[in-house]
Parts: sequence; structure tokens; C-alpha cells
Amino acid sequence: MDQSVVAGPAMLLEREHEVERVRAALRAVGRRDGGIVVIEGAAGIGKSRLLEMAVARASDLGFRVLSARATELEQGFPFGVVRQLFERLLTEADSADRDRWRSGAAALAAEVVTGAPTIVPTAPSPGPLAGDPSYAWQHGLYWLASNLSADSPLVLVVDDFQWCDAPSARALAFIARRLGGQPLALILATRPLDPALTPEVGTLPADPAAELLRPPPLTHAAVALLVADRLPAEPDPAFVRACLEVTGGNPFL
Ligand SMILES: Nc1ncnc2c1ncn2[C@@H]1O[C@H](COP(=O)(O)OP(=O)(O)OP(=O)(O)O)[C@@H](O)[C@H]1O
Ligand SMILES: [Mg+2]
Repeated sequence: MDQSVVAGPAMLLEREHEVERVRAALRAVGRRDGGIVVIEGAAGIGKSRLLEMAVARASDLGFRVLSARATELEQGFPFGVVRQLFERLLTEADSADRDRWRSGAAALAAEVVTGAPTIVPTAPSPGPLAGDPSYAWQHGLYWLASNLSADSPLVLVVDDFQWCDAPSARALAFIARRLGGQPLALILATRPLDPALTPEVGTLPADPAAELLRPPPLTHAAVALLVADRLPAEPDPAFVRACLEVTGGNPFL
């Protein structure tokens, strides 16, 4: 039987390619060759399941994983997703760790992540940070992630990215452009987005540097296994065919 076919409620069928690509991306993070993986697909196709696998694998490897899930209701709250990613870790850390992670340019992100005021320099800082708070925040968040990844490889995971607030999406895109050579990865799951309609959020999944995974619909064989798992007897082939036709191979349906 196929390795990835495990009977029972936890079965993850026909996702060998996606699992292998995620594992490869995580191995690369361990070699300081971070990158971005985008899992894109319709509702119910199995994106969150793949993220769960990624989180479990990254944790097994001893990486630090910070996760967030965007929601439609909170899409209008600036930096909501970024806060979900970093706030708890920072507020629960002991002060020595917190100071270390927020050192240098990462201090610019304090206001965004924990609501703590940033240290206001007495003289305006030169260069691009002066006069553009959003650049300073993005720069600070990048350094926060980078400081954290100096302890152990860091994986940032965002589910339902299609509902990410725009400032978080911009900050994550900023980080994504700086992943090369770092033990830092970004793994996103999103329903399909049209960058023309949602430029802020749609840009990152469309980044050509991202490894784009599109889990396909399940085949007849997998639908037969899923159906058999829920019935006391072997299902009739005609019934399995009908299930496949009606659901289009969407595991949730
Ligand atoms: N490859 C698979 N094999 C078996 N079951 C699966 C598979 N993928 C997903 N499922 C099951 O299908 C259901 C939907 O999966 P999941 O929640 O991951 O979808 P999703 O793509 O994240 O959907 P949404 O866009 O609504 O968040 C879950 O019950 C999950 O366990
Ligand atoms: Mg989901």
C-alpha cells in the first residue's frame, strides 16, 4: 500500500508530491536556504491538512514554528496576522530573550507586534527609514524574524491567507524577498486570488520565487478509500463513481 495512505480519520490521500515538496523546503531551511511555499486551492481541497503536516514536520526537525490563521472578519485590522504570528511568543518570553529578539532594527517592530512604544530617536534617522513608518515596521519585522531564526530555524505559517490584512501581507512579502541564505521559511495556504482584484494580498502568492503547490482533486481510488472508511461494508463501485462525480474529488465534499 502507498506510504501516504494511512487508514482512519487521519488519512492523507494522494498528496505524495505536495508532502515531498514541503519536506524539501523544510530541509532547505535547515541548510539556511529559506524559501516560500504557497499551497493554493479551492475550499476543502486539503490546504489546511497540508499545513498541519508541515507544522508537525518542522516541529519534528526542531524548528520554531509560528502560525496564524487569517479570518474574513478580521481582515480590516492592520497587522492582525503579524500579531498572531509574533505577539504571544514575545509577551511570554523571558525578558532576556525578548530583548535579544527585539535588538537592533527589530525594535522598530515592537509597536506593531506588542503595542509597546518604539524608542523614538532624538534625531531623525537617515536613509529610507526616516519619514516612512510602514517601511520601518516591515524592516523591523524582518529583523525580528531574522533574530528569532538565529536561535533555531524559523517557519512562519499562515492559513487562509486570502483573508490576510493588507499591512501583514505587505510585511510578509517584504520578508519573503529576503529569505535567501536564511534559516527562515514562509508557508502559506490560500484560496485562489486574483492579484488584479486584490493587489495587496494577491502579490505574495503570485511571487515567481514561491514554490506553488496546487493539490489536485482526489481520484476514483482515493474517493473509494474515503467512502469505504465511512461505511460498514465495501461500497458499490457505482456509488463511488457517483461520489466522485458529485464532489469533483474534493475531500471535504
Ligand atoms: N488528501 C486528503 N485525504 C483525505 N482527506 C483529506 C485530504 N485533504 C483534506 N482532507 C479532509 O478534507 C477536509 C477539508 O480539508 P482542509 O480543511 O484541509 O481543506 P482546506 O483546503 O483547508 O479548505 P478551506 O479553504 O475551507 O480552509 C478535512 O476534513 C480534511 O481532513
Ligand atoms: Mg483550510
